[in-house]
Amino acid sequence: MEEKNQMPANKVEVPLPKSGAVGLDIGTSRIVAADSSDSKLTRTELNAFVAVPASDMIEQVLKQKHMVFERNCKNLYVYGNDSDFFASFMNVAARRPMRDGLLNPQEEQSQHIMQLIVQRLVPRARRNNEVLYFSLPGKGEGVNGKLVYHQAVLKNFLSSLGYNAKPLNEGQAVVFSELQDENFTGIGVSFGGGMCNVSVSFMSMPMITFSIPKGGDYIDRNVTEVLGEANSTKVRLEKEEHLDLSRAPKDDLSRALHIYYEDVLQTLIDSLRAEFSASSQLPKIDRALPVVLAGGTARPAGFLQKFEQMLVAGGEFPIEISDVRMAKDPLTATARGCYIAAMSEMK
Ligand SMILES: Nc1ncnc2c1ncn2[C@@H]1O[C@H](COP(=O)(O)OP(=O)(O)O)[C@@H](O)[C@H]1O
Ligand SMILES: [Mg+2]
Repeated sequence: MEEKNQMPANKVEVPLPKSGAVGLDIGTSRIVAADSSDSKLTRTELNAFVAVPASDMIEQVLKQKHMVFERNCKNLYVYGNDSDFFASFMNVAARRPMRDGLLNPQEEQSQHIMQLIVQRLVPRARRNNEVLYFSLPGKGEGVNGKLVYHQAVLKNFLSSLGYNAKPLNEGQAVVFSELQDENFTGIGVSFGGGMCNVSVSFMSMPMITFSIPKGGDYIDRNVTEVLGEANSTKVRLEKEEHLDLSRAPKDDLSRALHIYYEDVLQTLIDSLRAEFSASSQLPKIDRALPVVLAGGTARPAGFLQKFEQMLVAGGEFPIEISDVRMAKDPLTATARGCYIAAMSEMK
């Protein structure tokens, strides 16, 4: 074995918390911020909004209910966490600034609304050049060109708030959050709403990163369609509240959810195999790698076991896997990983 490819025996230093670093997970469904400004460490806003024609009456109601909104001459925009309640109150579907992991080109308000939501989570930097890492999807089907635009728009906006803003691959953020004790060596997977992201990391360096254009929204959309449902709300609520992937499905809805969950997992595992086979320059590694799962789509009961079963069922894997585990807090792992990356750079 070549010397430079060996794992060094000493551990990677884990940075001590210092104030001023910020991590931001910019997801299709939710935006999560992690920093040292509050004891809970993370804050979350839905990445969604509802627009209604402006009227004094509705504005009064919104003010009474202390809802977060913006009025321009023609419309009222309720955005972030309040958009869920307001959407069901008005009986409309909330709109999304992002789609499939990136800024939504079909949504003319996308940049403006995302800026409003981000500013609720991270106001201006307290001092100049405070380091902020934001999550970025990996390359993948249907992503490559648009990714350049998405990254540049976010970086410009975050820089305008006074941050030294840098992108971090979302799968790598999961590695930073969960694999400190393994010298940041292993496979991080984030199962989101818009897509899933993977990073294979050696000693904190991402060696393979990619995304697949399937996630929770893909499951909702397809199950809704094959069952002929009018909209995806019922499907999503059933998925989030009752789905148990370890039990045999009991009706058409849970059967369809199982089918599309397996589809997402199979696509991800097949892509991981293909990426390992295609990459010729992986460091030689003398130990088995852990896999860590995170993201909202990984939350149903039985998800971890399903992932393990499907990994084994596919036959021998190109590398040895030591274990598959769930992130400590699957919904905030990406933001925490971005925060750890930012902390490690604070002077
Ligand atoms: N308990 C749950 N069970 C199943 N799916 C869930 C659960 N909670 C959230 N989700 C799904 O997770 C997705 C959002 O995950 P998240 O990690 O927040 O995504 P993103 O990174 O795209 O913002 C949505 O599709 C949502 O329906
Ligand atoms: Mg995410």
